[in-house]
Amino acid sequence: MALCLAIETSCDDTSVALVNDQGEVLACLSKGQDAAHSPFGGIVPEIASRNHTFQLLPLIEEVLRTTGRGPQDLTGIAVTNRPGLIGSLIVGVVTAKTLALTWKLPWIGINHLEGHILAPFLKDSEYQPDFDPSEPYLALAVSGGHSTLYLAERLHHYRILGQTLDDAAGEAFDKFGKMVGLGFPGGVQVDRLSKGGDPTKYHFPRGLIHEDTLNFSFSGLKSAAHRILSAMSEEEIARERPHLCASFQAAVVDALMAKLEMARKQTGLRRVVVSGGVSANSALREQVAEWAVKHGCQVLIPPLRYCTDNAAMIGLAGVLRLQRGESSPWDLGASPSSTGTDFIT
Ligand code: KG4
Ligand code: ZN
Repeated sequence: MALCLAIETSCDDTSVALVNDQGEVLACLSKGQDAAHSPFGGIVPEIASRNHTFQLLPLIEEVLRTTGRGPQDLTGIAVTNRPGLIGSLIVGVVTAKTLALTWKLPWIGINHLEGHILAPFLKDSEYQPDFDPSEPYLALAVSGGHSTLYLAERLHHYRILGQTLDDAAGEAFDKFGKMVGLGFPGGVQVDRLSKGGDPTKYHFPRGLIHEDTLNFSFSGLKSAAHRILSAMSEEEIARERPHLCASFQAAVVDALMAKLEMARKQTGLRRVVVSGGVSANSALREQVAEWAVKHGCQVLIPPLRYCTDNAAMIGLAGVLRLQRGESSPWDLGASPSSTGTDFIT
């Protein structure tokens, strides 16, 4: 059975996993850096790459040690090489290439977004999805850097149906979190506070909701938030925080659901996956589940551990590609953006 060591360092999470060709995760260990970046209110690229240099090798050592596996058990090494913060990507790519050269293994550079698209298909002792990624499905990938609707036509063939014209959904959550005085990253805190709030109390725009497009726009939310908040005192904002968060979250979720429904109607597909950091959002998860029942759709949303950045999803993309005989040349490096052949537009 093919077994892949996978490395993910595209942003601020350092993650290492072992995944086999059935999508089974033998181990996935991650180390975040929220505490290092939160004083700056956002990710500082130099700090992110520097921390990867500290965190990566110990995680690789621990994954191999805890699973009792060694280089002789591996089919190859997969690493996120695009898109992302260039300094962060370089740490993962150089480490993967060096290990592959030393251990005489093939390596493969993976697009981070293919990882998010495939994350719902991972399996472990508590999560056993029954859904074949080689049959067509719709994928909504919503993270801190991307908000994109894909038509996965078959394995490794992804057509972009729509994407954000400005901010990503996670970015919008994080910016709003900052505006209402929550720490960084704000998404998870906005979600938590929303539970005690009234989602109808404040009105935030649902970008492009009535337009005949599968694209998203979240920048109008920022101006609306600014307008609403600048008319309030600090005490008022603190008191109203749950209602503000719930109302903001409802606007983001409504906008995502509107485009998911439009894509379902346009494509006629009933197999859907939702992934990326924002798919950890409880309101989005609830609404997607209700929507699926209403329209008879089969939906996969990964457990929280595979929603946010993790190496297991890179391992799945990697092991499937290595199994098809693909590998990357030694002169492939890191790239801040996707390449022209990654997605069909
Ligand atoms: O996929 P991810 O870990 O990294 C990127 O590839 O960007 O996504 C991180 C994003 C952040 O913007 C974070 O605020 C958001 O996902 N996020 C959430 C939640 N958990 C993470 N947004 C809303 N609700 C959540 N529960
Ligand atoms: Zn991501």
